[in-house]
Amino acid sequence: DKANYRHFMAKEIHEQPEVVGHTLARYLDMGAERVALPAKLPFDFNDIQRISITACGTANYAGYIGKYWFERFARLPVEIDIASEFRYREAPLRKGDLAIFISQSGETADTLAALRYAKEQGLHTLSVVNVPTSTIARESEIVMPTLAGPEIGVASTKAFTCQLTVLAALAVAAGRARGELSEQDETRLVHGLIELPRLMAAALATEHQVERLARDIAKSQDVLYLGRGTSYPLALEGALKLKEISYIHAEGYAAGELKHGPIALIDEKMPVVVIAPYDRVFEKTVSNMQEVAARGGRIILITDAKGAEEATVESLVTIVMPDMDAAFTPLVYAIPAQLLAYHTAVVMGTDVDQPRNLAKSVTVE
Ligand code: F6R
Repeated sequence: DKANYRHFMAKEIHEQPEVVGHTLARYLDMGAERVALPAKLPFDFNDIQRISITACGTANYAGYIGKYWFERFARLPVEIDIASEFRYREAPLRKGDLAIFISQSGETADTLAALRYAKEQGLHTLSVVNVPTSTIARESEIVMPTLAGPEIGVASTKAFTCQLTVLAALAVAAGRARGELSEQDETRLVHGLIELPRLMAAALATEHQVERLARDIAKSQDVLYLGRGTSYPLALEGALKLKEISYIHAEGYAAGELKHGPIALIDEKMPVVVIAPYDRVFEKTVSNMQEVAARGGRIILITDAKGAEEATVESLVTIVMPDMDAAFTPLVYAIPAQLLAYHTAVVMGTDVDQPRNLAKSVTVE
């Protein structure tokens, strides 16, 4: 049931404050302001030397953001893999380490094969899945459910932000267990998480502005997405979302990689979506924006009020996100990226919920 929405994707984008709220309620003790995982872990984070995260597509980008969190909060090295690569490259794995698998459907063939491989190698297996009865959930040692509810639109939206929610809670738990985060750090981060539903609702309020922008983006042949830090995997996700439902070619890049090749593409016809909250790498991203502007590239800047004020570059459009804890910006900045893909596809007249050549669950390799 699409409620009053034209497409499931629109409904699912709008459900995010609510389903992220449900997921938070499962992973946090809101009253005590502590992380409280729904399942007891059969290992101690202090015995883990390395985490391996494996998934496909959007779930892989959620894992990539999770990597930044585990490394920053818990000082735990994380390897992030695409499931189809992980399976065959025979990575050396250490018995007793932790392997995390992320999947909305819980049926993705390559992710499932990667899970079986990790199990054989004697790793602890933890899956972040949206379908609790799925094969990946059944075969994992530990299941951390995302409470996104059924996701019907082929393009993943609410499952992605719920995956991020679970990974954030896990990373904070790991940081506490390893003594890398103090009790005050945990309280501050949990506060940041609790704020997310409200902030995501504020991000949804930019929809009309994004809708106007989409009419312009729909005329483009190619779109570049740039970001640094956790905004880098989000740039990859923004580009994936646009290409899969609007069929416009899009690429995500780490902003710092621009000058190593992709800058050659930039001309007056090229929209460049820059995802840049005012954080500790903001100034660096601004200098990359200057490189784009100097070549006539049309910049769409997604930032916050402070970023909008400090960005010394002319942008075509600036989309202003609410002020928030810098750690968790991907959950909020995902929303304008999803809305931009959605409204561009609507302008193009594509089949938004059932894009050509794609299936909701990829059970073949
Ligand atoms: C993108 C998308 C796909 C899936 C990928 C993994 O919008 O939907 O990239 O994220 O096929 O699927 P799951 O999460 O079911 O393993």
